[in-house]
Amino acid sequence: MRVPAIAANWKMFKTTHEALAYVRELGSLVKDVSGVEIIIAPPFTALATAAEAARNTAVGIAGQNMSAEKEGAFTGEISAAMLKDAGATYVILGHSERRKLYGETDASINRKVHAALAAELIPIVCVGETLEEREGGQMATVLDRQIKDGLDGLTGDQVGGLIIAYEPVWAIGTGRNATPEQADEAHRHIRTRLRQWFGAAAADACRIQYGGSVKPDNITGLIALPDVDGALVGGAGLQVTSFFEIIRGAASAAR
Ligand code: 13P
Repeated sequence: MRVPAIAANWKMFKTTHEALAYVRELGSLVKDVSGVEIIIAPPFTALATAAEAARNTAVGIAGQNMSAEKEGAFTGEISAAMLKDAGATYVILGHSERRKLYGETDASINRKVHAALAAELIPIVCVGETLEEREGGQMATVLDRQIKDGLDGLTGDQVGGLIIAYEPVWAIGTGRNATPEQADEAHRHIRTRLRQWFGAAAADACRIQYGGSVKPDNITGLIALPDVDGALVGGAGLQVTSFFEIIRGAASAAR
């Protein structure tokens, strides 16, 4: 039985004050919610503040990125140990914005996944095709490459413990979410590959989130799918009320 994980990726939004107010409010809103894992990914500067405010609540904290290096002369970088020190339990890796705008590759993401696991952070590994790739019939090929290369060298146990976020690039920030049929197809494909490459136990345990224009009014249709184990929310995760509605929608879906 996989517990759905609902995460808000704040991207480059919110000061420490805004983060504090949000997490305090969310922490009290979710007091009576059960059956879902709740995660917030603040910018680095607000991580420690958010983690402190989330202490003794059901809200977990994620970094949005990290270096694959342990420490050293890497100006502007943040290590896995630093994320942990700031109070993070999870780290988002390989988001499509990082791939597209900052040149991250499956190989560089793979190094980060290994580094995160070595530091006992739970990676949220993002995969997903562009519109051009989808229209060119390349969805499965792209997902296969991202999974095979991104998770290269991991054990079945490690894969079972991490989270994959299927975020079709064409659905991110566009208001055009994948339909339940499209999400179902992609998520089933990912799980099939996990089974082939990492074994049945890994495939059964690994959570696969959907991301891309998730909103309070589309979460229930997505979360009802057998292979959708949560959501990675961008825009609708910036307001605590809409994020809470998404959490509630996910928690109420009979699974
Ligand atoms: P939106 O929910 O704004 O489409 O963003 C999705 C996303 O990129 C989450 O990581």
